[in-house]
Amino acid sequence: MFRRWNRFILRCRLIVILLISISMFFILTTLITEQKKLFTSTIVDRTIILIRTSYHCQLRLNYLLQSWIPSNLFQQSNIYLLTDNISKYTNKKILNSFKNLIETNCPQTHNRFDLCCKTAHEFELFYNLSEINSNLDWMCRFDDDQYVNLNNLYQFLSQINSSKLYYIGRTSIDYRLKVPKHNRTYTFATYGAGVCFSRALLEKLRPYINKTNLPHECIKHGISDDAYIGYLTEFILNVSLTSLRELFHSHLEKLDISFRYFNINYLQHAITFGFAWDRYKLSWLPIIHQIIQLINKGEKYTANILWIFLQNYEKEHPDNLTNQYDQSCTSYKQKSYEKNTFKIRINKTI
Ligand SMILES: *[C@@H]1O[C@H](CO)[C@@H](O)[C@H](O)[C@H]1NC(C)=O
Ligand SMILES: *[C@@H]1O[C@H](CO)[C@@H](O)[C@H](O)[C@H]1NC(C)=O
Ligand SMILES: *[C@@H]1O[C@H](CO)[C@@H](O)[C@H](O)[C@H]1NC(C)=O
Ligand SMILES: *[C@@H]1O[C@H](CO)[C@@H](O)[C@H](O)[C@H]1NC(C)=O
Ligand SMILES: *[C@@H]1O[C@H](CO)[C@@H](O)[C@H](O)[C@H]1NC(C)=O
Ligand SMILES: *[C@@H]1O[C@H](CO)[C@@H](O)[C@H](O)[C@H]1NC(C)=O
Ligand SMILES: *[C@@H]1O[C@H](CO)[C@@H](O)[C@H](O)[C@H]1NC(C)=O
Repeated sequence: MFRRWNRFILRCRLIVILLISISMFFILTTLITEQKKLFTSTIVDRTIILIRTSYHCQLRLNYLLQSWIPSNLFQQSNIYLLTDNISKYTNKKILNSFKNLIETNCPQTHNRFDLCCKTAHEFELFYNLSEINSNLDWMCRFDDDQYVNLNNLYQFLSQINSSKLYYIGRTSIDYRLKVPKHNRTYTFATYGAGVCFSRALLEKLRPYINKTNLPHECIKHGISDDAYIGYLTEFILNVSLTSLRELFHSHLEKLDISFRYFNINYLQHAITFGFAWDRYKLSWLPIIHQIIQLINKGEKYTANILWIFLQNYEKEHPDNLTNQYDQSCTSYKQKSYEKNTFKIRINKTI
């Protein structure tokens, strides 16, 4: 009698254990698939980040690696470095610090044709990648002299619908461009501040952009690569630029009305900053990054003290730029400070 009772208890226990195991199994598998779903559709995986550089400017990559480019190669899965000639890099170690390297085969000066050739490659890369990965929603392209707050970028993009036509960036001119014989005008997002395109817009742009035709079209229209993309988007496709002047910043902005006066909240929320040898130097990139990291860790008070100190120091110790040049690119030796400021002035950039 007593034995039978014991056996009964044992059986009950076994059944309960079995039931618990079965339910645990289901809970675990649903959890894992949920997590997988969450993982495969994160905004990071849906966004392609492109950085344009040149072997002339290999020094600049150090600053990117010391700041916003993750040093862990696994965290660079969606980041692509596009450059002109890999074999001309004297510092191979720096190239090995990037997971995805694309060689463009474009001519290696800095003229309109070459820049448009690089632009065509950027789009082609997105189109190639989207054939392998149908989840891609955004393509954002930056220059090698920019700071990108990736967290802010992803957070911003995750809130908007990539099935809609989005052309996002910052205008650098305060007037609209005219098209001969047409009454409509257009504007464009300056490449120096970074630009993002939604999947829907990228699909619409596709018939107009390839390596063979784009450089010739830029020359034919007499405009730069970023202006030509604005022409295609705003004038041909009738899609308006979403100009985010508070969030995207380029090196074309006047120092005295921009960076020097950004407060800590501004620094915290902006998506890109532009750097240049004659204002906020590239060597500031790692410092800006550390200040932003401090804010992210909840140490905004400390970050603010540092930021104010740096701003004041910079104001009180202006560099003597006479006969100086941009040493981060070997191709810029001949460009003097005077010539550069002249160029900025005649371009009416703000
Ligand atoms: C890169 O430079 C090397 C050496 O100057 C040259 O032989 C090669 O053709 C160039 N490659 C490209 C893709 O331009
Ligand atoms: C895109 O794919 C084509 C065909 O495979 C290839 O020739 C081209 O180099 C690729 N372009 C880029 C930028 O990856
Ligand atoms: C995104 O936009 C597309 C096209 O306008 C629309 O069909 C879709 O419902 C939108 N999705 C969301 C989540 O709003
Ligand atoms: C051009 O557009 C303006 C308003 O945008 C309009 O007043 C003007 O009549 C137009 N001119 C022609 C020739 O269509
Ligand atoms: C490139 O684009 C132009 C204009 O959209 C088109 O006429 C041409 O056939 C395209 N070339 C290639 C190789 O796709
Ligand atoms: C461009 O789009 C606007 C609405 O966004 C519309 O009112 C206008 O008629 C369109 N123009 C052309 C030429 O398609
Ligand atoms: C800046 O440097 C130049 C020589 O490179 C010198 O002639 C000039 O006096 C300096 N100006 C100032 C304000 O120190």
